Amino acid sequence: MTQKTLGMIKPDAVEKNAIGEIIAMIENKNIKIRAIKMTRLTKKSAEEFYSVHKGKPFFNDLVDFMTSGPVVPMILEGENVITEYRKLMGSTDFTRAEEGTIRKKFGSAMEKNAVHGSDSPENAKNEISFFFSAHEELGIF
Ligand code: CMP
Repeated sequence: MTQKTLGMIKPDAVEKNAIGEIIAMIENKNIKIRAIKMTRLTKKSAEEFYSVHKGKPFFNDLVDFMTSGPVVPMILEGENVITEYRKLMGSTDFTRAEEGTIRKKFGSAMEKNAVHGSDSPENAKNEISFFFSAHEELGIF
C-alpha cells in the first residue's frame, strides 16, 4: 500500500550539516521525497504541532528545542512508509536506537533525536497539512 507521511529533520541535525546524509538514508530505502522545505517554527506553531504532548514534563524543553533553529519538513511517499520510515528513524531514545538508523547515527539527547515522523495515517494527514499547502502536496505551482 502506497502511503504518505510527514518526515522532519530537526534543528540539531540541521546544525550538524546532516540534511544531505539523512536525505540519502531516506532515498536509499526507496522512499520518495514528494515535497521539502526549510522553515523555522515559532513557539506558537511548535506548541500546536506537539499539542498531544502538552502537559508532559518534557513539553517546554521540546518546544524550546524545536524553535532553536530551522527544521526541514518533508512529504515522504512509499510502500507502508509510515512504518518503514519509523523503522529507519529508530527508537525515540537515541541510546536505544538500532544500528543503521538515523537516530543511532545523529541523535544526541531525548529531544535532540535528529528527526520526526508521523505515527499513524491520521497524524500523517494532519502533519502534512500543518506544513504544506494543497498545491505543494500535489507538486504543482
Ligand atoms: P518526536 O518523534 O518528534 O515526538 C515527540 C518528541 O518529544 C520526541 O520525538 C522526542 O524528541 C521528545 N520526547 C519524547 N519523549 C521524551 C521524554 N521522555 N523526554 C524528553 N523528550 C521526549
